[in-house]
Amino acid sequence: MTITGENIMDAKLQNANIAVLDAESHLEARNIHVWFKDRHVLSDVSLHFPTNSVTALIGPSGCGKSTFLRTLNRMHELIPGAGLAGSIYLDNEDIYAAGVDPVNIRLRVGMVFQKPNPFPTMTIKGNVLAGLRLSNRRTRDEDDLVESCLNRASIWNEVKDRLDAPAGSLSGGQQQRLCIARSLALSPEVLLMDEPCSALDPGSTRRIEETIRELSADMTVVIVTHNMQQAQRVSDQTAFFLAEEGQPGHVVEFGATDNLFSAPNDPRTEDYVNGRFG
Ligand SMILES: Nc1ncnc2c1ncn2[C@@H]1O[C@H](COP(=O)(O)OP(=O)(O)OP(=O)(O)O)[C@@H](O)[C@H]1O
Ligand SMILES: [Mg+2]
Repeated sequence: MTITGENIMDAKLQNANIAVLDAESHLEARNIHVWFKDRHVLSDVSLHFPTNSVTALIGPSGCGKSTFLRTLNRMHELIPGAGLAGSIYLDNEDIYAAGVDPVNIRLRVGMVFQKPNPFPTMTIKGNVLAGLRLSNRRTRDEDDLVESCLNRASIWNEVKDRLDAPAGSLSGGQQQRLCIARSLALSPEVLLMDEPCSALDPGSTRRIEETIRELSADMTVVIVTHNMQQAQRVSDQTAFFLAEEGQPGHVVEFGATDNLFSAPNDPRTEDYVNGRFG
């Protein structure tokens, strides 16, 4: 990938409203800029994610939320033409430093996508264990691990009697929770979720939101959502991204979710969270 360090000098730096939460950062993005070929799509994003917090990333389509999310576990560099400047620190270690294995970072920082992507012909149990097998890891008691991951993803009761059925036989909401269980089997420290409920019915959405709250007891969660109620229900802090006409996406405001929704500092945030645009 191209690290376009010089370009950072040319980039128009934005003044974001950043309210710092008083907690130690587990994951931190410092001055992140992203390019696709010569197109600057994200400018100077600095956000910190305290241990065991849930952070919502909100903003109109195309402002760079998914792109930013992918910089947090080094999936961005898999995209042809992707450029990056800035640093991401995980437990104070720069994940882009020379010698750091990106595969190891992706194991520590797991990801759940918008569209559930289980292996459809593989069994439910096989799906939970798939990441473990692909990364050549072992567990002492597979059945125990499968049960605990499915439990934490709030789907155990629905599938415990058919663990050998193909994952493709599950509903969309169940498949999404199975994908969460598959991520959990790798014991990630951070879970990135890109609109995990956008294809789901209200009942499944509610269950996943409960799951997110429970997971945050022992991991750091970053979730992209277009659902303002969801951001308020699940997150501790929220970052509002915006790409103004012809400009790269940037963070307009970042702070405690309650404040950002009830008393935003920036009129653009107020308009967005009240549904006036986007
Ligand atoms: N693989 C890619 N190649 C080139 N440009 C890309 C690529 N992926 C994203 N972009 C561009 O980067 C910008 C940010 O896209 P991104 O998908 O991150 O937005 P988003 O905020 O997640 O939008 P949405 O809410 O619709 O998912 C857009 O202008 C998009 O066209
Ligand atoms: Mg997106």
